[in-house]
Amino acid sequence: MPDEDFTVTPYAVEGDVDYDKVLEQFGADELTDEDRNRFPEPLHPLIRRGIFYGGRDVDEWLDGVESDETVSIVTGRGPSGKMHLGHAFPFYLAKYLQEQTGAHVYIPISDDEKYFAKDQSFEDIQGWAKNNIRELMAVGFDPEKTRFIVDTADADVVYPHAAKFAKKYTQSTVDATYGNPDNIGLSFYPAVQATHLLLPQLVHGKHQTLVPIAVDQDPHIRLCRDVAAKEQFDVTKPSAILSRFFPQLKGDGGKMSSSGNDPTIYLDDDRETVEDKIKTYAYSGGQTSLDEHREKGGDPDVDVSYQLMYYFFEEDDEVVERLAEEYRSGELLSGEMKLKAAEKVADFLEAHQERKEALGEFEAELEKYTFTEEERATLTSDLLY
Ligand code: TRP
Repeated sequence: MPDEDFTVTPYAVEGDVDYDKVLEQFGADELTDEDRNRFPEPLHPLIRRGIFYGGRDVDEWLDGVESDETVSIVTGRGPSGKMHLGHAFPFYLAKYLQEQTGAHVYIPISDDEKYFAKDQSFEDIQGWAKNNIRELMAVGFDPEKTRFIVDTADADVVYPHAAKFAKKYTQSTVDATYGNPDNIGLSFYPAVQATHLLLPQLVHGKHQTLVPIAVDQDPHIRLCRDVAAKEQFDVTKPSAILSRFFPQLKGDGGKMSSSGNDPTIYLDDDRETVEDKIKTYAYSGGQTSLDEHREKGGDPDVDVSYQLMYYFFEEDDEVVERLAEEYRSGELLSGEMKLKAAEKVADFLEAHQERKEALGEFEAELEKYTFTEEERATLTSDLLY
């Protein structure tokens, strides 16, 4: 992206992201208030507060919801490390929407993608896949309506469809969309992710699917929609809602990182660790001295502790507004803001971790979320044997 000072692709996010420009570059739309207010009440804070700020054909998914048709949600995870807060929030939104709409939720685990993209062994990636699936089970989806799909382990349902979609993509489309991929695995992978987004329709027939995901993943959605539009495949184009990146602790507007060395809050961090990380690293919008802070006040818009609450962890709009006001006026100190955020985040994580601890042995839990024989038969009906 030559004339911008930032880059956003599925494999690289760099610089100071101009979120509106990203939508423009990708050809996605802003999420309008009209769309927003059509989501079932009560609106999730992530939607209400504009963290999900863009989309594609969101209204069509909402039409499906309003007319009581089958609807689905797909959001996945590339397992290359521990999951942090930023990874978790699209899944919590998906769970919330599942409760409200009864949507099928499909959760693809792209172990192949991460093996192609990262300098890790196949075994390492498999280990992360298992670890991450356990984290995702702790979100609390309805197992009857939720499916995990692991690309390599569920190759029988993924590969035949990916092959059909792959034939529709040229190398030049892939190069233009992702930059020149490092290896042919990554060149093929868009066909796999297109399969993910269409799987619910391949199982349950044509219907509206919503993909809640950070905006850097939009190119995958665009390519999937191109293939979904071809008459030979009896599916409709999936819709998407696209989010901003979760705030980084050090607060420069980038994406919360798990691969760099930046401090990050992981889903398995305990209360003390959360407090420590926020105290030590969370960028403060406060003034350097107490007197100055009391006099001039702080800036909640750049204060990461405030941002954490605004994004996700404080559901009450009145409380967040009051916090911002008190901060601006200098009444609330930066250390106090940090403590509040740490407590909220730690409460959230404790509940998550309790659900995780209550899970049984991996295979037995996974069994609840794997395709029924009938579903698998539908997906593999044209295989040789
Ligand atoms: N590619 C995504 C990532 O790197 C993970 C992913 C795989 C995904 N399949 C998906 C995300 C389907 C959304 C929908 O994070």
